[in-house]
Amino acid sequence: MDLDKLIKVAIDASKNSYSPYSNFKVGASLLTKDGQYFGGCNVENSSYGLTNCAERTCLFSAYAAGVRKEDIVAFVEYSPKEHLVSPCGACRQVMSELLDLDCPIYIVYGSKPTIVKTTTRELMPLTFTKEDIDNA
Ligand code: THU
Repeated sequence: MDLDKLIKVAIDASKNSYSPYSNFKVGASLLTKDGQYFGGCNVENSSYGLTNCAERTCLFSAYAAGVRKEDIVAFVEYSPKEHLVSPCGACRQVMSELLDLDCPIYIVYGSKPTIVKTTTRELMPLTFTKEDIDNA
């Protein structure tokens, strides 16, 4: 897997961030087993709660193109800040369903940049899942 290329896709995606309220430009990317790269950025709204984070934009774009969690090799979240920015709670919930729990997630930040490897299993323990509803 070409992690440098995957990170570049996330950095490039962050440049498309529509963030006139926060001016906080976030990017995300994923790679599929058959070599497709998808990127996503945060898209804000004057009704702040309707904002879509970069992670969800990326995942929804891939799913809309027919990708499913078993196809995804790795996921990147990128922030240009010099400190680690980890996915918000809403994104963790979405990631827990749309990514394999053990899919490698690379949180990338800063101008150098720094890379921290994690998984949804680590970010979102005791997650609420489809099985919880099915077994209700
Ligand atoms: N944001 C993301 O896109 N991903 C994160 O992991 C954290 C937050 C966005 C949402 C909003 O546009 C801005 O950053 C400030 O919260």
